[in-house]
Amino acid sequence: MKVVIANDHGGVELAKKIISHLEERGIEYSYLGTASEESVDYPDYAEKAVIEYRKGGYDFGILICGTGIGISISANKMKGIRCALPQNSYASEMTKRHNDANFIAFGGRVDYPEPVEKILDAYIDASFEGGRHQKRIDKMMALQNE
Ligand code: RB5
Repeated sequence: MKVVIANDHGGVELAKKIISHLEERGIEYSYLGTASEESVDYPDYAEKAVIEYRKGGYDFGILICGTGIGISISANKMKGIRCALPQNSYASEMTKRHNDANFIAFGGRVDYPEPVEKILDAYIDASFEGGRHQKRIDKMMALQNE
C-alpha cells in the first residue's frame, strides 16, 4: 500500500503523527509537506497531492489543514477526487465502503472523539462494496461536469 500525504501549516503536527502511524503499519508514503509552521495556502497542498496521486501507484491520499475543510474542498474541486472529511471511525469506514473515497482529510486543530490513527485505520481496513454504491458514485462524479 502506498499513500500521498500533504498538509498546510495547520496540519504539521498531525501529519507527523499520521506518518509515524503509517510507518508502524508498514505503509509506504510520499510526503509533500509543508513541514514548517510558516503560513502557506492549503489549496496549493491539495493540488500538489492530487497531481502526485494522478501519477499512479497510490492507493489513496491524506490531506490535513487546520480544520480539514479548506484542503478537502480544494481537493474535491479537482476531477476524479472524492475526498472525505470523516467525523469519527464510523464515518471513515463508511466512506470507503459506500463512497470509495480516494482521499481522506483531517483537521490538525480539531478535537476528534477518537485518536486520528483509529479513524484512519477504519478507512484503510474497509473495502468498497460496489453494487448500488457504484451507480451513486457514477452520478456523483458526473456532477463534476456541471
Ligand atoms: C489556516 O489558518 C486555516 O485556515 C487552514 O488550515 C484550514 O483550517 C482551512 O480550512
